[in-house]
Amino acid sequence: MSFKTVIVITAAFVLAIAASAAAGPPSDLTPMEQLGKKLFFDKISDPDWMSCATCHDPDVGWTGPIAGINMKGAVYRGAVPVRFGNRKPPSAAYATLSPIFHYDDVESLFIGGNFWDGRATGERLGNPAADQALGPFLNPVEQNNASKQAVLEQVEDSKYAKLWEQVWGEPISYEDAAEIEMNYDRIGLAIAAYEASSEVNPFSSKYDYYLEGMVELTEQEEWGLELFNGKAMCSACHPSEPGLGGEPPLFTDFSYDNLGVPKNPDNPFYEMDEVFLDDGSPINPMGSAWIDPGLGGFLQTRPEWSDLAAENMGKHKVPTLRNVDKRPGGGFGKAYAHNGFFKSLKDIVHFYNTRDVEIWPDPEEPSNVNIDELGDLGLTDAEENAIVAFMKTLSDGYRLPQVKTIASDQQSPTSYNLAQNYPNPFNPWTDIQYDIPQDAHVTLKVYNVLGAEVATLVDTYQTANSYLVRWDAGDLASGMYFCTIDAGDFRKTTKMLLMK
Ligand code: HEC
Ligand code: HEC
Repeated sequence: MSFKTVIVITAAFVLAIAASAAAGPPSDLTPMEQLGKKLFFDKISDPDWMSCATCHDPDVGWTGPIAGINMKGAVYRGAVPVRFGNRKPPSAAYATLSPIFHYDDVESLFIGGNFWDGRATGERLGNPAADQALGPFLNPVEQNNASKQAVLEQVEDSKYAKLWEQVWGEPISYEDAAEIEMNYDRIGLAIAAYEASSEVNPFSSKYDYYLEGMVELTEQEEWGLELFNGKAMCSACHPSEPGLGGEPPLFTDFSYDNLGVPKNPDNPFYEMDEVFLDDGSPINPMGSAWIDPGLGGFLQTRPEWSDLAAENMGKHKVPTLRNVDKRPGGGFGKAYAHNGFFKSLKDIVHFYNTRDVEIWPDPEEPSNVNIDELGDLGLTDAEENAIVAFMKTLSDGYRLPQVKTIASDQQSPTSYNLAQNYPNPFNPWTDIQYDIPQDAHVTLKVYNVLGAEVATLVDTYQTANSYLVRWDAGDLASGMYFCTIDAGDFRKTTKMLLMK
């Protein structure tokens, strides 16, 4: 069948995508968000080489971008390169949505804040992430600037000093202590505005589109979701359902728990008894005897909560699972949990499943270990893999297959067809055209050579017409793929060759 004119009508399906605000493409940043972005990516440190993004890279889900570090100690060096902190960088995305740190009387537990131990409470600037952003610039094991004024001076000398003026209505200044405080706080507020923007929190994962009804999960992903909410009880702490007002799920309830994660023996902090701060004191006087106190350690510093410190030792904040699998390439290594003990999602799921029935190293902090919700889940290997497959659907930047209707001089096609994709071989996208002569439920799926489904391009009821689907193979490996259409009684498969 040949078409004289090819009119592209955007299908209702595609319109639905555009109308959906929650899962839409990132919008332009406001001046305040742009300022925050500049501050986030600028190297404001002493020595002058480190930015927030050095430890929170968007391509790695806003966490540490050096695979070699992730595979070992998982802690990033400071601007003074011999100095190391004690924890793995968590994702900086979705952190602005954490409530202000507080004790919940109903549940009798602590909720909210930023950092693994909650100490960026949000009490100062009204948002934990804004409070958090004030810390790293001055932290001697992170950006190591000498003072707030030293940070302000670098912003004053930056290319975005004019943007600052536009946002705050006046040039940056640090004449007296009050101006220094005010303008330093403004840095935190601008960074938090960027971190709250749709560029950092786009809610554009495959799972988000699935919740909006725009894409199907594969069978394995669907099974993983079922286990995540059911047998494996993951959603007890990492909620997967939209909120009461339809807010997309954050995969954290912002509470704290001690899972019994073992020490990471490669944590460089254990050697920080021999590295010193400017005042001559060691960074970690306890050396290899140090145990991460987590939430309990923070509570000890606050008189109103210090009597609850003991029962919260070793507890760490439930991290969001959004972007846990986001990485620049298939083999790129990431670390998981507060000390980066786990090196793959399979590793950590296996820990949840078997902590109490297989041999694992002792917990870093033996008190307060949660023995109710994990440790012996009775999952099979295939079930563990399904949960991992589900977590892989939580990476932002998922590209929806695009379906277009091709109208042909008002005539419907007279027979079913699935045409050879074009271009072929392709990289990374190709167009697939098919015809249906009568209304039908259509599925168009892509399988790899092992027969595993890798994409569902169409799974919906369609009216008689010709359609064009653009498939973006994204991160998939080079090789042969099979495209199969099912419509009515019609089934056809074509071969497609991805060459990278
Ligand atoms: C040297 C690496 C490093 C640098 C530089 C750094 N961070 Fe972090 N970030 C970390 C680590 C490690 C943690 C966890 C620390 C802890 O829990 O004690 C963290 C925690 C966070 C969190 C908390 C997330 C949550 O859910 O609790 C946010 C947000 C964040 N950083 C943003 C920033 C911003 C903004 C900057 C720049 C001003 C920055 N980071 C600079 C390593 C770094
Ligand atoms: C009782 C609450 C709870 C349950 C149930 C739970 N988690 Fe967690 N999860 C946490 C806490 C707390 C952490 C951080 C622990 C730490 O760092 O010591 C965490 C960390 C993680 C991380 C690491 C994320 C990162 O950025 O480092 C992954 C992945 C994860 N959980 C997946 C799961 C899966 C899958 C399940 C179900 C099998 C599950 N969780 C069940 C509380 C829970």
